[in-house]
Amino acid sequence: MLLDAPDKCGGPQNSADVFLLLVIKSSPENYDRREVLRKTWAKERQHNGAWIRRVFISGTSRTGFEKRRLNKLLKIENSENKDILQWDFHDSFINLTLKQVLFLEWMDRWCPHARFLLNGDDDIFANTFNMVEYLQGQKSNDGSKHLFTGSLMEGTGPIRDPASKYYVPVQVQESEIYPPYCSGGGFLLSSFTTKTIYNMSHSIELLPIDDVYMGMCLEKAGLKPTSHHGIRPFGLHIPAPNVDQFHPCFYREIILVHRFQPHMIFVMWDEIQNPHLQCGKTYSVFL
Ligand SMILES: *[C@@H]1O[C@H](CO)[C@@H](O)[C@H](O)[C@H]1NC(C)=O
Ligand SMILES: *[C@@H]1O[C@H](CO)[C@@H](O)[C@H](O)[C@H]1NC(C)=O
Repeated sequence: MLLDAPDKCGGPQNSADVFLLLVIKSSPENYDRREVLRKTWAKERQHNGAWIRRVFISGTSRTGFEKRRLNKLLKIENSENKDILQWDFHDSFINLTLKQVLFLEWMDRWCPHARFLLNGDDDIFANTFNMVEYLQGQKSNDGSKHLFTGSLMEGTGPIRDPASKYYVPVQVQESEIYPPYCSGGGFLLSSFTTKTIYNMSHSIELLPIDDVYMGMCLEKAGLKPTSHHGIRPFGLHIPAPNVDQFHPCFYREIILVHRFQPHMIFVMWDEIQNPHLQCGKTYSVFL
């Protein structure tokens, strides 16, 4: 580990005080995204009496001088914000599962009782007010029971085309089907489920597709992921041609959307909080 934030949850004993831990996958060069998230949806705060905390998880990028410079950048950011976990591995798509598992290990050690987690990318727009309210609405679940929800992927299987980003050779996975899983752009899970996945990961070989790997761990534990209509890692796809696709009313209702540029996150975060915003039926994504 290169950078740590062991006090993020107030120590393992006190970590139950953290209601929602935002765990954001971010490569070292994505400084602009991290800065905007710190000021917007990932701001550490209390909502409805529930504490929201944030960590970025990162590896290393580039080589030589550039690599050292990016490591320095994260070091400066961490001394200012105390929100970076960095490990010494090359931060690439293929290594995302490694990043996830390293995080689970960290979580088990430093933040075992944080009640819920958002696991997501650094280019999503998340309505963390809605997220907290949705999780608080799980009346019988304070994090001690199973929850794993997002954009559900079912009946998919490994892509065998070597030119694809998602290529998985037969030698790595023989089976032609993946278990159900949630798209890695962003999903929500409970402390119980996090722990279970971590336990399962000890006996499942790493598959280079991180979200599928989570599905494999769930399957082994006999747990199922569920679908949440407000989690849209593939965008909103608003069919009406003459409507502003980025009208704040659409984003008032959702929990999470992929993908947003940093300046759009900044503007949207401000707009959804406008108390004078009038939202008619045209601007509902749930029709
Ligand atoms: C994954 O990380 C390891 C450790 O840094 C590195 O040796 C390997 O090349 C990385 N793989 C990819 C595809 O980036
Ligand atoms: C994880 O494994 C440990 C040790 O085997 C066990 O005590 C614990 O109950 C397991 N937790 C879950 C949530 O499966």
